[in-house]
Amino acid sequence: MIPTVEWKNGIVMMLDQTKLPFETVYQECKDYQTVARGIKELWVRGAPAIGVSAAMGLALGARQIEASSFDEFWPKFEAICAEMAATRPTAVNLIWAIERIKQFAQKHREQSMDGIRDLLVKESQRMLDEDIATNKRIGAFGAPFVSDEDNIITHCNAGSIATAGYVTAEGVMRAAVEEGKKIHVYVDETRPVLQGARLTAWELMEEKIPCTLVTDNMAGYLLFHDMVDLAIVGADRIARNGDVANKIGTYPLAVLCKEHGIPFYVAAPFSTIDYATESGVDIPIEERDPREVTHVLGKTQIAPDGVNVLNPAFDVTPARYITAIITEKGAFAPQDLHHLQDPKRDPERFRIKD
Ligand code: MRU
Repeated sequence: MIPTVEWKNGIVMMLDQTKLPFETVYQECKDYQTVARGIKELWVRGAPAIGVSAAMGLALGARQIEASSFDEFWPKFEAICAEMAATRPTAVNLIWAIERIKQFAQKHREQSMDGIRDLLVKESQRMLDEDIATNKRIGAFGAPFVSDEDNIITHCNAGSIATAGYVTAEGVMRAAVEEGKKIHVYVDETRPVLQGARLTAWELMEEKIPCTLVTDNMAGYLLFHDMVDLAIVGADRIARNGDVANKIGTYPLAVLCKEHGIPFYVAAPFSTIDYATESGVDIPIEERDPREVTHVLGKTQIAPDGVNVLNPAFDVTPARYITAIITEKGAFAPQDLHHLQDPKRDPERFRIKD
């Protein structure tokens, strides 16, 4: 497992995923602006990884602020937080991580400025460690839903490089393999930025999990010919009613699965659930540069100059298409998630037993 993001001697090292699978390059970020740029330009992407990167970026930002008191520090820090929050609007882990860091800073406001700066670095590293532990639990809860000899289809990349480590959707696959099950994965290439072809196929091959790359529009063929047993994807934001925003193209895959009676699972940590957003229609959808559509990986142009382009980065899959949402607290029917808004509530009551 190669690190996605790391704090090294006052520098945030971000794995530049735009270069994968051809080169393994780390971008050295010495200020929060570079981290923000890296999140926007997809050096590090995937909801959990974005959250941890932002936390580390804020720890850098705190060091850039000249202030002798907390009151002087706070408005400058809030401005940096707002800048970071604007980088990618859909992945709620970003907002979650920023809020956690802000609350943490407030809690320690009586400390010296240097003390606060050090504590913020430690907190961002704790978030990284927690993310890995969370993802392992998701894998353990998800593995029972996978049977020996299953053919799985996945979309985008919910692998270890989409998190601080260990993975969500791919974690379920990996945990199933660790239980001795033989599986095979169909990987959607995931237009337009090709996270499936470049990242998921690469990660699965590294892990020696058999996989086959298909273009997004081949999913119907696979399902019609009975070649898929289940689908597992990640999520960027889950609304209170269980609707899920994930990479563009997830929704049509879910509709196809329902039509063919194929279970459709979403694997995501609780930090991806946004109880403040009532339903999928309220989830802000990131619009990205048209060039991602008109050019292959920013290089070869494939459309006429000046063509109108729409490039929403995510779509929303309504809860009714989702068999279960697999989290670090267990697997739940999407419609039951709201019962768990109160963290003191026992998840056992609502858990789906495989
Ligand atoms: O635009 P991306 O590459 O950040 O989109 C990523 C996804 O849609 C993932 O499926 C999601 O963030 C889950 S990652 C565990």
